Parts: sequence; structure tokens; C-alpha cells
Amino acid sequence: EKAGHKHFMAKEIAEQPTVISEALAYYLNADETGITLPDPGLDFSAFDRIVMVACGTAYYACFTAKYWFEQVARIPVEIDVASEFRYREPPVSARTLAIFVSQSGETADTLAALRYMSDKADTIVSVVNVAESSIARESDIALPILAGVEVGVASTKAFSCQLTVLALLALEAAHQRGEIDGDTLSKRLTELRSLPGLLTRALDLDETLNIISNTLSEAKDILFLGRGMMYPLALEGALKLKEISYIHAEGYASGELKHGPIALIDSHTPVIVFAPHDALFDKTVSNMQEVMARGGKVLLVSDRKGLEVASEGVWQTVQMPEVPDLFAPLLYAIPAQLIAYHTAVAKGTDVDQPRNLAKSVTVE
Ligand code: F6R
Repeated sequence: EKAGHKHFMAKEIAEQPTVISEALAYYLNADETGITLPDPGLDFSAFDRIVMVACGTAYYACFTAKYWFEQVARIPVEIDVASEFRYREPPVSARTLAIFVSQSGETADTLAALRYMSDKADTIVSVVNVAESSIARESDIALPILAGVEVGVASTKAFSCQLTVLALLALEAAHQRGEIDGDTLSKRLTELRSLPGLLTRALDLDETLNIISNTLSEAKDILFLGRGMMYPLALEGALKLKEISYIHAEGYASGELKHGPIALIDSHTPVIVFAPHDALFDKTVSNMQEVMARGGKVLLVSDRKGLEVASEGVWQTVQMPEVPDLFAPLLYAIPAQLIAYHTAVAKGTDVDQPRNLAKSVTVE
């Protein structure tokens, strides 16, 4: 049932090109130039604002999607973790679309947040893996992520399928609101369809990341840095690592480093930097150099162009395939997951059933 893999987590990481393709096939029109949402569909011209609520990894999927909705569809997005949202009882303005993201569809805090919003938001959308779940049932429209059963407690393929569906939703919103024309939409969809192939190439880095992770497994603390859409991924990378390897890890926005966390830098604290060669690359590199100037040991995950200009003085580099800027989080999720996985395996922890954690958190 693990299909030749040592752990369900390894199997689920490896399945991502396939499940993402399946999710894309479900939502794309037959000619693959447009998106079809399940009934009753969504009219994005009816919303001025989006509120996205979830827990854990699903929350980081929301955080990533905030960049997409704001950048591509120009809709302001508020995000929150469900346990805070539900008790904060925020005022909700008219014309609000509420989106709840949950693999299990049964997370108690997320369900409570949904119920709070049910008589306040204009429309409730859920993005779920389990189609018959409470969260799916109680929403106006449930969007399946089609990841298939996820057994590993640490979420991997559900995360990338959540990102896939949210990316499609942001593109659909952008198109409906006239922020992108049909040609651009079709171009973006072609880019999205190239993702499974790129993920397959990133999965080839498995052995490289395994070797690096052997050293990482000796660390007491590990930091993850990213800017723009790589910031939520840095948070996700840190969460994944701490969940299964029990190594203390934190993710930071690269630019926040000098406002405190840089005090943590020493030669024993590896710093993992996610930085595709995009518009923010130079900024991230200058933050990375601040780390190295203080004796920090940097693992730079970038592409050929990025590594060409920024590898000097770096402890380790990992060369990723080039990826359209917008969809980099989907690709860079692979090294984030493989680092956590191999570090945990090197430490000998129970990867699929980490201590103190449950797959579905149905009590608050
Ligand atoms: C992390 C992880 C958890 C879940 C969170 C939400 O790897 O699995 O952080 O993402 O408990 O669960 P769902 O998505 O079922 O609502």
C-alpha cells in the first residue's frame, strides 16, 4: 500500500505530479483554455473582499493564495487561523467571499469559523479533500482538491492540491473581473499544466536533499527564509520540519530578519533560503548575505540563474528547474517536504505518525 516507499509520506510526496494533474483536469475546460467550477459556480464581480480561514498547513495554503488573489485578481484578502478568527468575531462587510480550506473537512476550529460566517458572508466556499465532510456540506460551494486519501499525518499532497485549486480560483477571479484577458488566462493555464512535469524534475533532487538532510538532522534549530510567495512556504517548511523531525524550526520573511531573528544566527543554525530568480531575488540575496556575514550556514534553494550569481560563500545549493514566477510555491514545496522527510528519517522519528499529533483535529 506504500507502493514501494518506506513511508506513506514519501509515497504522497511522490504522487504530487499525478494528483495535481488530476485536479487540473477536473477544473479545466475540455480545450484547457478556461476553468469550470462545480455548481452553482461563483460570480466574482459580487465580492469586494475575500476572507480565508484555516489551520496549520491549510492556513499556509491560504497565505500563499492571498498573494495570488491580490496580485492577479486585485481583490483584498484577509487571512487568519481559525482558532483566532472564531473568537475574534471580526465584523464582516457586505460583499465578502469567505473561503475555508481543510484537508479533512472536519477540523473543529475551521468548522466553527465557517458557522460564524454562515449568516455574515455573501458566499461560503470550501476547499476540501474529503467531499462528504461537515465543512463541505455546510458551504455554498465545495471545491474538491482531489488529492486522494492522505495517510501521513504531515500534509504534503493535500497542500499542493489546495494550492492548485486556489491558483485556479485566483485566475478565474482575475478573468471574471477583467484583470486578465482570455489569452492571458489561457497562457497561465498552460503554465499551470507544466507544473506536474516540473515537480517530477524537482523530485529527482531526492538523493541530493537526502545527503544534505543528514547534516541538518544534527542541528538544534533551523531557520527558513523567503520573500513574497516564498514567505508562506518558509513557514510551511518550518512547520513540516518541526512536526516530523522534532527539530525546532522557524520561518521568517527575509526582510524581517534584521528586526530581531538575526540575533539567532550562528554557525550551528542552518538557514534554508527559498529564492527563485524572480523580481525579489536580489532583496532575498542581500538578506542571505547578512546571515553569512554573521557566520550563518546557508542552504540556498534556487534555479540556475539564481545560483549563478549568488552561490558564493553558501554552504549548500540546490538547483531547481525554472518555473513561472506565479507558481513557484507549488514547485518549491517539493524541497521543503523532502528536507523535512529526510531529516526526520535521519533522526529515526516516526515519520507517518509523529508524536502528539492527529490527522484530523476534531476538538478545539
Ligand atoms: C501539517 C498538518 C496540519 C493540518 C491542520 C489542518 O502537516 O497536517 O497542520 O494542516 O491540522 O487540518 P485540515 O486541513 O484537515 O483542516
